[in-house]
Amino acid sequence: MIDEIRRIQAESTRRIDGAATLDELGELQRDLFGKASELGGLKKQLGGLAPEARREAGLAMNEATEALRTALDGRRSILEASARRAQADAERLDLTEVRAGRDAGHLHLVTQTIEELEDVFVGLGFTVAEGPEVEDDWHNFTALNFGQFHPARDMQDTFFVGLGEPKEVVMRTHTSPVQIRVMEGQAPPIYSVMPGRVYRNEATDSTHLAVFHQLECLVVDEGVTFAHLAGTIDRFTKAYFGPGWTSRLRPSYFPFTEPSAEFDIQRPDGTWLELGGCGMVHPNVLANCGIDPEAFSGFAFGFGLDRLAATRHGVTDLRELASTDIRFLEQF
Ligand code: DAH
Repeated sequence: MIDEIRRIQAESTRRIDGAATLDELGELQRDLFGKASELGGLKKQLGGLAPEARREAGLAMNEATEALRTALDGRRSILEASARRAQADAERLDLTEVRAGRDAGHLHLVTQTIEELEDVFVGLGFTVAEGPEVEDDWHNFTALNFGQFHPARDMQDTFFVGLGEPKEVVMRTHTSPVQIRVMEGQAPPIYSVMPGRVYRNEATDSTHLAVFHQLECLVVDEGVTFAHLAGTIDRFTKAYFGPGWTSRLRPSYFPFTEPSAEFDIQRPDGTWLELGGCGMVHPNVLANCGIDPEAFSGFAFGFGLDRLAATRHGVTDLRELASTDIRFLEQF
């Protein structure tokens, strides 16, 4: 019987080591230890042996069972590891490979949008300016004619930075503070666009991001009128989206412009998309920057870039723009 046990052990070990899949191994385990197994059959015969022979055969039986369980466990962990490896290989995204031609890495959709809009405005004779994302109260609010207790300060859902006096340092809530920096730094004529990242303390959903992008436009010169503002907005709408698109202005309120308006753009199918705010630069704002409001006038507008890019490219959830999933990113 002992020889028989050893033979079964050797044969079964070979079968275990040869199992190619976890399924096959499971089946084998049932074959080896189930009621109808060869070892099971021998076990039933143990009772008929003489005591000494029974003891030795029992010992060999236990050894064989133990050895086979160890072999099964070993084989299972090898097969599990290779199954994991196969799955990881199947789901693998190669983020390092540089391929020639159009498959090579490219700029993010929002960056492409910024560059494209910059090109449109540079073509109209504008310069491009930038400002810091961490701003002081003066540039983000006060110089823009938000009084100290102006309710519009609360409408901006500001992230405050724990620096200096309380509420003195903020993550900029819009790109309008860059208007102030441009006017503080240069005398008119000013024809400038200012793209950048802005921050709002609000819940994120498919149409709102807490960190997003705006483009600001500022013109200050002699004799600038509301007609120049409306014409510039319409020009850029057509240049960015195409000749079938138009724009409209609706009366609104912003502390830093007077009169103020919101502007929408109209898709070729006739539907409207709210894009941003605009108006004639408020005389207080010009004066805050050392520009004589009697001698110069100006217009400004600002709008969200993420929504603009999403509209043009059919992205229905703005949160995708903040994702790092290469399968989303490589579509643009
Ligand atoms: N800064 C405004 C906002 O984020 C948008 C805006 C309105 C910008 C009017 C302007 C403007 O330049 O003139 O809500």
